[in-house]
Amino acid sequence: MAIDKRPARVAAMFDAIAARYDFLNHLLSAGFDRHWRSRAILSLQLTGREAIVDVCTGTADVAMAAVSASPGAAHVLGVDFSGEMLRLGAAKIRRLGKTNRISLARGDATRLPAATASMEAATVAFGIRNVEKPERGLAEMYRVLRPGGRLAILEFSIPTAALIRAVYLPYFRYVLPRIGRLVSGHGPAYSYLPASVGSFIPPDVMLDLLRACGFRESKAIPLTFGIVTLYTAEK
Ligand SMILES: C[S@@+](CC[C@H](N)C(=O)[O-])C[C@H]1O[C@@H](n2cnc3c(N)ncnc32)[C@H](O)[C@@H]1O
Repeated sequence: MAIDKRPARVAAMFDAIAARYDFLNHLLSAGFDRHWRSRAILSLQLTGREAIVDVCTGTADVAMAAVSASPGAAHVLGVDFSGEMLRLGAAKIRRLGKTNRISLARGDATRLPAATASMEAATVAFGIRNVEKPERGLAEMYRVLRPGGRLAILEFSIPTAALIRAVYLPYFRYVLPRIGRLVSGHGPAYSYLPASVGSFIPPDVMLDLLRACGFRESKAIPLTFGIVTLYTAEK
């Protein structure tokens, strides 16, 4: 069955779970989410001068990791269409004392509020799967990148090794949605997670999409037994 990814519905879902989002992220990934974001930032090979757009920034964890890395990004523009996720992200950025280096904007991944060829890097962590037409999100990141600009995408994937699947898939499909529902009080959001990952394009198709959008040097790097894939590419 096709999953309803209309923007208003997805934004409302993230608004509803925002308060528990970070806690559940760390809990359900056993803290691996921080490691995955750092791997993505590392792949950008930052020098300290870059302007980055972090698409589907949510509560701004990638944006904060990008400016906290050393060397880190000079500036990050975080874009998301969930007002509640952004509100919590803004409070975290204030606490970190990085308001001068991170700005947040409410907007859609397919219409980024950034000029053409204005960014040295673009990131999206666990967001592209939610975009109704992911190819439009990729094309938009391509547009805002400068020639030579780097892209890093993190997304959940289904491990290919039989042993890992045997252990991970029951957890991901049955245990995780129950914990998510109990803690967030929102059942549909944490059933949506495995359903949207299961129906999302596999890494080889994602690489084809990236090439079709004009990206070169695109790679799919499995992280943590392939439960997450880091996609890297250049404009
Ligand atoms: C799973 S969260 C990931 C948040 C953050 N990147 C992280 O690593 O924790 C997905 C985020 O993508 C946002 N999102 C999904 N589709 C979007 C779209 N088309 N435009 C803007 N934001 C979108 C949601 O509102 C949500 O905050």
